[in-house]
Formats: sequence, C-alpha cells, structure tokens
Amino acid sequence: MKLWGGRFTKPTNELVDEYTSSIQFDQKLAQQDIKGSLAHVGMLASCQIISKEEAATISKGLTAVAEKIQNGDAELSEDHEDIHMNIEKLLIEEVGPVGGKLHTGRSRNDQVALDMRLYLRESIVVLTDLLVQVQESLIGQAEKNIDTILPGYTHLQRAQPVRFAHHLMAYVFMLQRDADRLKDSYKRVNQSPLGAGALAGTTFPINREQVADSLNFDGICENSLDAVSDRDFVVEFLSNASLISMHLSRLCEELVQWSSAEFNFIELDDAFSTGSSMMPQKKNPDVAELVRGKTGRVYGHLMGMLTTLKALPLAYNKDMQEDKEGMFDTVDTLKGALSLFAPMISSMQVKKDEMYDAVQKDYSNATDLADYLVQQDIPFREAHAIVGQIVLYSIEQNKYLLQLTLDEFQQFSSSIGEDIYEALKPESVVNARNVKGATSRDQVKEQFHHAYHFIDGN
Ligand code: ARG
Repeated sequence: MKLWGGRFTKPTNELVDEYTSSIQFDQKLAQQDIKGSLAHVGMLASCQIISKEEAATISKGLTAVAEKIQNGDAELSEDHEDIHMNIEKLLIEEVGPVGGKLHTGRSRNDQVALDMRLYLRESIVVLTDLLVQVQESLIGQAEKNIDTILPGYTHLQRAQPVRFAHHLMAYVFMLQRDADRLKDSYKRVNQSPLGAGALAGTTFPINREQVADSLNFDGICENSLDAVSDRDFVVEFLSNASLISMHLSRLCEELVQWSSAEFNFIELDDAFSTGSSMMPQKKNPDVAELVRGKTGRVYGHLMGMLTTLKALPLAYNKDMQEDKEGMFDTVDTLKGALSLFAPMISSMQVKKDEMYDAVQKDYSNATDLADYLVQQDIPFREAHAIVGQIVLYSIEQNKYLLQLTLDEFQQFSSSIGEDIYEALKPESVVNARNVKGATSRDQVKEQFHHAYHFIDGN
C-alpha cells in the first residue's frame, strides 16, 4: 500500500513506478532529509502540534533509520518512489503509527526543496575548499617560478615574454572570482523553504523561523509558492560550476600543449599521466584532457536544468524531480577534477631552461625595440613601422633581434645605440613592464600579496 494510496482503487502500473521513482538517485539526500525531519519534528513539539514524547520517539526512530541507511542495512525501494517516502516508511516500521505524525504540516514539495538546499550548502563549502587548494598549488608553483620567463601568446603566436609566475597567477585570480561567486550564491541557497507545505502553507501553527534557525539557515523563503517552485539556486550553482569548469578546461588545454614535444615547457608527473596500450613511448596528459572534456557535461547539466524549468507553471511540478541528477553529477565531477588538480599542478616539472630558450628564439621583444625608439622621441606609429622592417630583415637574415649588429640596427634608425642589447634581454623586457598587474618581478610579487590576502578570506 502506497503512503498516498487512500484515494486509489488500483495498484500503480509497474512501469509507472519504475518511471516516476527517484529513489535510485535521490537516496543521496538521505542524511539531509533526516536532518530536516529532526528539525521539523522538534518544532512540531515546541509548537505543541505533537507531544514531546511523540517527538522524542520519532526523533529516536529517525536516528535509527539514518544509521541503518548509512550502514546499508535499510531496504530502499522503488515502491515508495523517493527518499522522502522511503524514510517515512522505514520510520513507521521502526516506531509504529506515531511515525505517521512526522509529516504533519509538511509536504514533499517543501521537503525536497529543503534537502536540495542542505545538500548544495555542504557542497559549496567543500568545493570552495578544493578551489583554494588549487589556488595554493598554483601559487606554490608561481613562487618557485618567479624568475622563469616564457613566451606569452596572443592568437597562439609569440607575443611578449612573461614570467611563468604571472601566467599561473592569472588562473589564481579566475578561481578567486569563482570562489567569490560560490560564496555569494550561498546566501541565496541558505534560505529555508520548509513550512511552505505543498504550495500554500499549512493550517498548523508551525514556526518556520525556528526550523530555519535550528538548521542554520539565514532566513526563510518568504513566499510559499516561490519556496516550492524555486530552483534558481540549482541553476545558479550549475552556472558557477560551468565557469569553474571553463577555467579549468583552459588551464588543461595549456597543460596539454605545454607537455607536447612541440612546446616542451612542462612535464606532468608520472603519477598524473597515463600510457598507451600500443605505443610504448607514450606519456599522455589524460587527467588534463578529461577535466577539459568533462566541462561539456557540466554545461549540459546547466542547459538541461534551464530547459526543464522553462515555462513551468507554479507551483511544484514533477518535472522538477529532474533537478537532482545533474546537480549531483556536477558536484561529483567538480570534486573529482579539483581534487586531482592541486597535486597535478604541484607535482608538475617546469622546464625553465626550455622556456627561456623559447623566449630567446622569437621576436617577442619587438615591442620593446619600438618602445626604445619612442623613448628617443620617435612617434610610436613610426617606431612600429621601423621595427616591422627590422623584423622582416632579421627573418631574411635568419637572425633574432639580439643577434643583429649595431650597424644593422642603425641602417634602420640612427637613434639605436649600444644600450639596445640590454633593453631587449628577456629579463629587461619583463621588468620594463612595471605597471600594476604587469609582468615585472615587483608586480608579480604584488599579485602574490593580493592572493595571500584573498585566499585567507576564502
Ligand atoms: N521526488 C520528488 C522530487 O524529487 C519529491 C517531491 C514530489 N512531490 C509530489 N507531490 N509528487 O521532486
């Protein structure tokens, strides 16, 4: 007999049970569900809706059910559709008919919204911690590589040299925005929907604030229809998760490129690489590739959730049961990626000499030659044209700028003097960029200080 079987004269079609049940995946919410029920039952007693003795019996029963589920000793069945009704059924088996009083003044609609919020609240804390670990691993490598210089790229063409530390710090700032977004979204997750009932509230004199307080919510959802219909917090989380995944995927792409023979800038640790079943020489950056690849499923969950919610009328609709798998999978996917990322970054070998070698074999100091001419009072646009000619000449001569003789330089501009050789060295080039946020040693160190500060606050 179903918990709601009273008005039915036939058993549910088996395929319907199978199709509509969510117990296969929402059993993940068991502990949150029981936590919510304990708060609810405590409030029912203090509002004298049930007796203290009844509340004590129900609470004891719920704790026993929690333990059984945790130890895998409870039978969760499709016949009872979802985790909420399975738990209620188990409770009644545990304590008898008094267990049937638990659901007084409550609906699964406010209950499931509560469970989702409790689950997401915990997940946001865990994910923020993991983000910080990735930031710390990046800062660790950045500190070790404050003096490592490599070509910086635009359009994937060598552009201007940068410190490797500067490049890594770019990701620290991105991840900080992600952490800030997660923290900001927490406020909106942390509102209690319980007491909204099915949609219109309840006739019982419940105390919604008491339940909210006892579950450490910041407040209550103010409109009962909104409380049971709102899944904005899920969309917002999936959107934040999409940005995190996007950031990780960009770094992954760089790791993949850098570890190719063509770049040869890093080597990922053996422990974070995999081999080929056929080609004995292979060492593949599988983790980075897979993190990049899993970005697709996170975006998919975001699109799926938005589309599920599109045009849903108020209030609860069964469509909303589709909120769970995407959210759970996103939390698990991100946990997996972020947990691997920190040690993968910390253990990677940075090939400083190869990076430096690359920066000496390109024209990425050409802007500095133009800036040098500007200092001799040549308008930038003219300087640009002159240096364009010098680069063209150098390419024809098979030389880099630092290999030109002073005579050769002076064929293009008499304003070029002996000091050009110092100005075009990679170290001078990076240090000459000393405006805030730029790639000079001092400015990169300044970025470290900002990062230490915001990471402390995370
Ligand atoms: N399993 C449902 C869900 O996840 C719980 C709420 C169902 N409420 C209802 N009236 N059918 O959304």
